[in-house]
Amino acid sequence: MPGRIVGQMLVSADRERFIEIDTDKVSRGSFYTTDEAWLNAPIRGFMNHALLSSSSVLDPFAGDGHLLELVRREFGAAIFGLDIAGAKWARNDSLVNIPNPGRAVIVTNPPYLANHSARRKGVAALVDTYFDGSDYDNLYKIALDRCLAVADFVVAVIPETFLLSSFDKSRLQVVSVIEGDLFSDTEAPAVVACFGPASERTDARVFVGDKPIGALSDILELRRGRSRAGIQIVFNDPNGRIGLRAVDAQDVRRRIEFIVGDFEYKRSKVKESSRLMTYLDIPELTQDELQNVVAHANKLLAELREKSCDLVLAPFKGNDKSGNRRRRLDYALARQIINDACLAR
Ligand SMILES: C[S@@+](CC[C@H](N)C(=O)[O-])C[C@H]1O[C@@H](n2cnc3c(N)ncnc32)[C@H](O)[C@@H]1O
Repeated sequence: MPGRIVGQMLVSADRERFIEIDTDKVSRGSFYTTDEAWLNAPIRGFMNHALLSSSSVLDPFAGDGHLLELVRREFGAAIFGLDIAGAKWARNDSLVNIPNPGRAVIVTNPPYLANHSARRKGVAALVDTYFDGSDYDNLYKIALDRCLAVADFVVAVIPETFLLSSFDKSRLQVVSVIEGDLFSDTEAPAVVACFGPASERTDARVFVGDKPIGALSDILELRRGRSRAGIQIVFNDPNGRIGLRAVDAQDVRRRIEFIVGDFEYKRSKVKESSRLMTYLDIPELTQDELQNVVAHANKLLAELREKSCDLVLAPFKGNDKSGNRRRRLDYALARQIINDACLAR
């Protein structure tokens, strides 16, 4: 994008609209963890286990030091911080390398910034060197990779989308989804992910807050569905006989749903790239069969949501009016659900 000025975020490509943003804050991901909800019972349990290996805790992205202060208060640990900015800690670029000769336990909330949003927010020039030659698409994954390379135990507050990402989770032991707003100034849904040494490999236990949900592998397995052979499903078809609201609205009556015929989304708006609302068709089905499939697909979706406490779905922009996190159904899973519903018809 030629001529872009660092510090302006693109909000509408069609209308070439930009808004001013704080570039330092965005490129460093400086959103502090002021809430203490992250240190719940399962995370405390893991911290007690981790601190048997070392009584020191390092935050390589320490910022104001909120996490470290809490860890010192609650566990009596010796604390060390590093940061690329500010005068409080030793300066270090921890996205490049983290000195940790004593193998302290790492507790951190690294910067989050997706490669594509760095571009949209006009700060790509400040972070490009980290993404160059890396397979990761977000700064927090690069940060996590660096932490895992130098510590046996890592506790990291990271985006919930980590759970559905392809990042290697073989050292993950405990993960807790934090439902409240953890940060003072963003709405990013977060998890606390706890990693141990490779020698302790287990199936990660998943919690929502303090509540146990199950093993991560079982939750991810729910996404795989039952059917393998595919029936032809045409997505983003303006004349499709099935409507798909693929995101929860703020209005709780409008949750993710397959709908026979028209719904609030205008057919004229359907595009090749539609990802949130659309129409689709299953050409080989009669109208009666299609109605059965839609009813069954909604039932399967409700079961999946319940069994996984919604974790099979990606989080989407904040909460609904009842305070539940909104979710998005990706089309790969939508396809799988329809396939399974067709098998059961
Ligand atoms: C999300 S804040 C977290 C601060 C602190 N852990 C907390 O939760 O209060 C991220 C911090 O990482 C720092 N940071 C960003 N890029 C960095 C880098 N390459 N190396 C070291 N620190 C960095 C920022 O300056 C910011 O203080």
